[in-house]
Formats: sequence, C-alpha cells, structure tokens
Amino acid sequence: MSASHPFLARLGISHPIIQAPMAGTATPALAAAVSNAGGLGSLGIGASTVEQARRMIQETRALTSQPFNVNVFCHAAAQRDAAREAAWVDYLAPLFAEVGATLPTSLEEIYPTFVGDEAALNMLLEERPAVVSFHFGLPPAAHLAALRQAGIVTLATATNLQEARLIEQAGGDAVIAQGIEAGGHRGIFDPDGNDERLPTAVLTRLLVRELSVPVIAAGGIMDGAGIRAMLDLGAAAAQLGTAFILCPESAANAAYRQNLKSERAATTRLTSALSGRPARGIVNQIIARGEAADAPAVAPYPVAYDAAKQLHAVAARQDNHEFAAHWAGQGAPLAREFDAATLVRTLVGELTQAR
Ligand SMILES: Cc1cc2nc3c(=O)[nH]c(=O)nc-3n(C[C@H](O)[C@H](O)[C@H](O)COP(=O)(O)O)c2cc1C
Repeated sequence: MSASHPFLARLGISHPIIQAPMAGTATPALAAAVSNAGGLGSLGIGASTVEQARRMIQETRALTSQPFNVNVFCHAAAQRDAAREAAWVDYLAPLFAEVGATLPTSLEEIYPTFVGDEAALNMLLEERPAVVSFHFGLPPAAHLAALRQAGIVTLATATNLQEARLIEQAGGDAVIAQGIEAGGHRGIFDPDGNDERLPTAVLTRLLVRELSVPVIAAGGIMDGAGIRAMLDLGAAAAQLGTAFILCPESAANAAYRQNLKSERAATTRLTSALSGRPARGIVNQIIARGEAADAPAVAPYPVAYDAAKQLHAVAARQDNHEFAAHWAGQGAPLAREFDAATLVRTLVGELTQAR
C-alpha cells in the first residue's frame, strides 16, 4: 500500500519515507539504517570536503546495498562586505567576552558551493549514488544533466512555486516542497528576496497541482499520520529531518539531544543569526541576540556561520551550548527516541493505520 506512487519504484524504495539530508547530523550509519529499512536514507555533504564526502558515501555503501541520497548546497557565493562583517563581529563581542573567546579578526566562507565545483561533481559521477539532491538552488544545467545521464535521480528543494518551476524546467526528477515549519536551513534560492513563508501543506498542494513532476513534502512531519496527510494531498513521499535527530545513529551530541527532549524544543525560530541564511532551530542565546531589534545586518552565509562556530567551539569546552546550531522544526516536541530501523518501522505502521 505504501509503495503506491510510481516514483517510489523509480527511487528503488518500499516506503514513502525519506530521512532528510542533515549536514553535520546525518551519518552513514543513519542513512544506511533508513535505506535498509525500506526508506531513503540521505547524507548531507554540504559541509564536507570532496574527500570527506567520498568517504561518507563509501562508508554508507559498505553498510547498505539499498539506494541512498547525497545532498549538496547550491548557494550563491557570499557577497563579501568587510564593514558589514566587522559590524556583525562587533555585535557578537559581548558573547565572545562572556566565554573568554578571542574575537575573530577575519571570517571565512567555510562551506564551498556545489555550483561550478567540478571536483565535487566528478566525485559524485564516480561514486554514483542512486539519488542526489540540491539545497539553496540548482547547479549549472550541464552538471545536472551529467548527473542524470549517469542514471542518478535528482531532487531539489523549493519553498515556493517559482523555485519549483525552475527545478522542473531544469530537468529535476522531483521537487521537495519545504514548508516554513521545517527544521534546519530553508532552501530558499535567494535569502534576500521576498519569502511568503508557505506552510508545508499549502506548498505541497500547490506544487502537486501545478507541476508534472512528483512532489516530496518536508517540514513538521513527525509521524505516520503526518505522512498520510501529505500523501493525501498528493505528495509522492515525505522527507523528515527533526524526527531522525534523536536516533542513536545520528551525530547529534548529548547537549543537542537533551535540548530536543526538553521543553525548550517547543520554541524554535527561523533565523539568519547563526549562519547568515534563514534556518530554524531551538532558541538559545545567540539566536536571541541575533534577533534583537537593535541587531545590525548579519554577515552573509556562510561567513556568519564561521563566527558562530568559533564562539560555540570555545563555549562548548565549558559545557555551554547557548551558541550551538540546534536545528529543529516546529514539530520538535513530537520527536521520539528510536533507533532508525524502529523509527521507520513505526512510521510505516502508523501510516498503514492512518486510513
Ligand atoms: C539538523 C538539520 C540539518 C539539515 N541539513 C540539511 C542539509 O544539509 N541539506 C538539506 O537539503 N536540508 C537540510 N535540512 C532540512 C531538511 O532537508 C528538511 O527540509 C527538514 O528537516 C524538514 O523539516 P523537519 O525537520 O520538520 O522534518 C536539515 C534539517 C535539520 C533538522
């Protein structure tokens, strides 16, 4: 029953469940366990070097013979502005002082974009994962075509109809409809443009009606009833991120897990304060300061992320996690602590009952 959409056969999976790629949190063990359980496991390599990414793919392949997804970031290179960056660091200075950290004198673009990255493209063409997905935009047409010619199924995140149409026109095999509820970075192509902030259900329905490619719903989906609701709206599958963070196979550290299991999980914010692009996470001290009315313009992505990570690195050594990126969606209070295979099995059971 759950394999009803023909796109699942194309992906080579039994259940309409995709474990979201989560750079820094998804691991080969998590992705492989989800794929072995009949869903689609995903790796996020947006924060990895080409060689680290290749190793993650090979490790995953050693743990599963099933298809899995590899996700890359397609953001535009940062528009560097020394005065804006200095003003941002200056604004964070009291937080650096609080933990005794040295204020950075310069910041780096810590994550390269996949756009135009021939080395990363060639690695993917060599490793040939079954699925590759794009976040924050699309790669050049020739790179997308090369992946498809290699037999790789391509997915890309859209937060509105315009982005979804661009993905369809570019030849993407399916569109991930990411609603405002979603945890982690919003896949919006232009973070400085207007954002209608559509919820997952509205966006999914809109894209199902307007596109001819399959739609995958993402954002706030935490259980089988949530997946069923999205399938009823016409989605081919659901992509869940926050629901998988508490799995023992994820890379989330003890503080992240504790936060997600606490009452604080009910208060998430979509904020650019941590990384320079909008992302949803559990509110902490750096988010509160970044969102304050007198905050200056945040440094661009991923330059601001460099500042936040430097601050967090020092604070974490003092067991202070108020500057960490504890990404989570609005469904966070519904997160459950299961190993990945049990979670997939539970979701499938609930989905079957939610008729
Ligand atoms: C910890 C975390 C990290 C994420 N990292 C990525 C990523 O690397 N690439 C990506 O395409 N999406 C990423 N996302 C967004 C997910 O793909 C997805 O849109 C989101 O998790 C769906 O909402 P949910 O968390 O409410 O299930 C991340 C989400 C979380 C929670």
